[in-house]
Amino acid sequence: MSYKGIIFDLDGVICFTDQYHYQAWKKMADAIGVYFDEKINNRLRGVSRMASLDIILERSGKNYSRTEKEALAAQKNEIYKALLHQMTPQDLSAEVKNTMDELKRRGYRLAIGSSSKNTKLILERLGLADYFDAVSDGTNITHSKPDPEVFLRAAEYLGLDPADCLVVEDARAGIDAAVAGGFHGAGLGEAAEHEKVTYALKSFADLLYVAKR
Ligand code: BG6
Ligand code: MG
Repeated sequence: MSYKGIIFDLDGVICFTDQYHYQAWKKMADAIGVYFDEKINNRLRGVSRMASLDIILERSGKNYSRTEKEALAAQKNEIYKALLHQMTPQDLSAEVKNTMDELKRRGYRLAIGSSSKNTKLILERLGLADYFDAVSDGTNITHSKPDPEVFLRAAEYLGLDPADCLVVEDARAGIDAAVAGGFHGAGLGEAAEHEKVTYALKSFADLLYVAKR
């Protein structure tokens, strides 16, 4: 299949912020006495901040108001952002950087399609602030994955049809979003097991076999 553009999810694909999300949610959950572990954290992959909070609060006996939930999400985000400041361009793996450089060299247009409202901060920390042809993230959408909106906007910003773009994801919700938007999906990690992926990748560098040109 010949694609013109490749849209990458950010967390879990380009960088590994899962641990930071976990630590920040854990601090918040401990502060309100709600049980939270790595297994619950795995359910938050690809899910928006507020939807993640709802999953965490399933373990709480209390009903939180919207204002209380916004305060809790803000508290988590402050802890998370402080952790993000530890990131440097050294946290971008050579495999990811070299693969993307080669895809660019082959003429593909590259975009980010992430639910995260911290996307721009993360790209800055990794030294990728001006690297992508387009960035679609949690700040320009109203519906999070599995809704296809974030990828549809990314394709639009690239000036391409969904059928001409490949989406690269590590979350099952992300593959659902890609398929719903009419994109082919390449899955990494648990997303590689999704029954609707066009390509199950073993590593990020496998993209060089998929996007040959
Ligand atoms: C996704 C992560 O990329 O972004 C989720 O996989 C996270 O775990 C979501 O909840 C929203 O992130 P943020 O940075 O806007 O809180
Ligand atoms: Mg992800």
